[in-house]
Amino acid sequence: MTTKIIMDTDPGIDDAAALTMAINDPSIDLKLITTVAGNVTVDKTTINAQKIVRFFNAKIPVASGAEQPLFKDFEDAARIHGESGMPGYDFPTDLPKPLDKTAVEALHDEIMASDEPITLVPTGSYTNIALLFSEYPEVKSHIKEIVAMGGALGKGNMTSAAEFNVFTDPDAAAIMYKSGVPIVMVGLDITMKALLTHESIQELPQISETGKMLHDIIVNDGDNSDKGIAMHDVNTIFYLLHPEAIKTEDMWIDVQTDGPAIGETVGDIRGAYHDGKTNAKVSVDIDAVEFNKWFLEEVRAIKN
Ligand code: BDR
Ligand code: CA
Repeated sequence: MTTKIIMDTDPGIDDAAALTMAINDPSIDLKLITTVAGNVTVDKTTINAQKIVRFFNAKIPVASGAEQPLFKDFEDAARIHGESGMPGYDFPTDLPKPLDKTAVEALHDEIMASDEPITLVPTGSYTNIALLFSEYPEVKSHIKEIVAMGGALGKGNMTSAAEFNVFTDPDAAAIMYKSGVPIVMVGLDITMKALLTHESIQELPQISETGKMLHDIIVNDGDNSDKGIAMHDVNTIFYLLHPEAIKTEDMWIDVQTDGPAIGETVGDIRGAYHDGKTNAKVSVDIDAVEFNKWFLEEVRAIKN
């Protein structure tokens, strides 16, 4: 059985790796890619998404989305992902054209045309999703679930409290978490545990051209430690394919939209504020060894 998904993304090095898995894994049917400003500006994230689509000669439409967050000033992450957002590899330059409609229109059309509820996989800020829900609330009942990279119960990576995707557009995150659509929060609590080890990264170019491409962009990730490099966004695809390798807990997530903790995802772990109600499955633990094994197996299974 395949899972129909749409990725809303800001490539970005780890976004590119997540797209690679989603495009190629036969259990996933990637219907549409929408882009958003995040790691770099949206003109660049759109080009980067098209480069990945072109690299695999995939026939997946790309629609360009929000240029900036709903209210907050835009701050990119080029210090981590480089000025282009995806440096290190010479991609073909004859890129497919993006769709002649906005991300919000493309999301609406794809979700409403689908014969089964679709899974949304946002790996950037949630601006497009918040705009979609505001403009077309009828889509909500046609979404199976949202598997979203972002947030943290523990410490942030942008401020002490906030993870980058939620920090970028906290107002959009608050709208998404209040939407009533089932959400799986794939946050730093697991993505900082499942680092792609340097041994795994060194193995990549020996596998194939795809492995070389991933290696060449991953080694440019500025968020690099002795233990390895976080592949944050790839954890969403790992969850879709291997939910048993990730432990989740049901809880209510509130998003701080101002003050020193702006962008924090506050998990009501004691059930103190919401009468025992929950709005998310929050990832709390992951099998990091399995993640590394799976990552390499996925790349080995890709033909080119
Ligand atoms: C998230 O921020 C971005 O830089 C990454 O692509 C990922 O989506 C991690 O905090
Ligand atoms: Ca991302």
